[in-house]
Amino acid sequence: MSHETKALFIIFGATGDLAHRKLYPAIYELYKKGYLSKSFAVIGTARREWSDDYFQEVVRDSIADGIESEEHAKEFSTHFRYQSHNVKDTAHYVTLKKLADELDEEYGLEGNRIFYLSMSPSFFGTITSHLKAQSLATDEGFNRVVIEKPFGTDFESSKELNDEINSSFAEDQLYRIDHYLGKEMVQNILALRFSNPLLENSWNKETIANFQVTLSEDLGVEERGEYYDKSGALRDMVQNHVLQVVGMLTMNRPDSFTPEDVRREKLAIIESLKTPVVTQDETTDFVRGQYSDSSDQKVKAYRNEDKVDPESLTETFVAGQITIDTDEWRDVPVYVRTGKRMAEKLSRIDIVFKETTSDLFNDSPSTLTIFINPDQGVELVINNKKIGPGMDLEPMTLASLRSKETLKNSPEAYEKLILDVLNGDETHFAHWGEVAESWKYVDQIRQTWDSFEDHIPFYPALSVGPAEANQLLERNGHHWVYTAE
Ligand code: BG6
Repeated sequence: MSHETKALFIIFGATGDLAHRKLYPAIYELYKKGYLSKSFAVIGTARREWSDDYFQEVVRDSIADGIESEEHAKEFSTHFRYQSHNVKDTAHYVTLKKLADELDEEYGLEGNRIFYLSMSPSFFGTITSHLKAQSLATDEGFNRVVIEKPFGTDFESSKELNDEINSSFAEDQLYRIDHYLGKEMVQNILALRFSNPLLENSWNKETIANFQVTLSEDLGVEERGEYYDKSGALRDMVQNHVLQVVGMLTMNRPDSFTPEDVRREKLAIIESLKTPVVTQDETTDFVRGQYSDSSDQKVKAYRNEDKVDPESLTETFVAGQITIDTDEWRDVPVYVRTGKRMAEKLSRIDIVFKETTSDLFNDSPSTLTIFINPDQGVELVINNKKIGPGMDLEPMTLASLRSKETLKNSPEAYEKLILDVLNGDETHFAHWGEVAESWKYVDQIRQTWDSFEDHIPFYPALSVGPAEANQLLERNGHHWVYTAE
């Protein structure tokens, strides 16, 4: 049986979509696997008035797909209590503390607490200062605060938020979730790179022509129009997931997998990103777009989505050329793109190697693809002699994709990250330094875009994005490996 950790979770935003879709199923998986057993409890809080019974029903509903038995699910849900809560009302924290202390006693939790903030960041400061002032943070056990994104909307607001939180909790108590860092294949980047001298010794400017990161989604903004219209793809995806993946791809070998070593190397990359050129002509390093309706008009345009301004200039697609301004990577462009309502739901990284310099062959560049989602695995395309006379070449694909069965049984990002929180392992969480530097980088792009006239390029829904994203690579004689065909 796995090592069991004792802890009380207090989830702010317990009636929300994320809690239902991700958190309860993740906690249940940890329970199934024995990481949580008899000694854990969860208090769900939110504004709504729910009874414990109703909350437990909601929790059972959220895990319905993966339960061992009705009995097991029921037993699991008895660990959940609900407390309606107004985050601004001090009296509510007093009641919450009472309930927390009772559960601590009942389940023998030794004062270990995980405060999970899954709600609007505008409340993070209020909540953390009350947790401290009303002594919900204990003296005897561990106190860890898990923070969902968005962590601010620019550098200034994120710094303010961070200062507010830091006045009650120290950096080593904070776990800023970037769920991409919990994904198996994102973590695997470090294993692939640093456990195979074959790859490690090729991972340099002599051998790599460019990196390509594609995080593409086929869905639109769904019911998140209100948030998204203020955010856009740059803040929603580039500031966090995209830059974290770029860090993993290009960071130096860490001395160990401790949070300090991994984060130091990743930070060094984010700190050395060159200021991007942002213009309205082909000299620009970043382009954007917004989806219009699909060519068959079955999918509506972004501007017609619920809670979106009908004249919105918000970008639902971003592509960019990132330059890492170090001797190693300066000449190796890192191309990134992400968007909503694209042709497919898929996250992948393509590493394009250089062609040979001799005249021996008419060779094509080899490519290594790391499939993150929904496929997981690796594919290497190299040159191979065509059968027959002469020395003509053809591409040969060496691929290993994880089976459906393996994927079904492998832990989801949230399960892995919550287990890390229980174990006090911060390696796969974003450190403040990384968050700050990432904001500074994207702020430069945002500010220039905001200064442009009322114009944004459109791309048809369910396509690969605007043509500008191709021009970005073509100017360097490159092209996207993934073209959705
Ligand atoms: C979230 C963004 O952080 O990541 C969403 O806010 C986006 O807009 C999601 O849909 C994508 O995550 P994944 O794991 O589905 O690629």
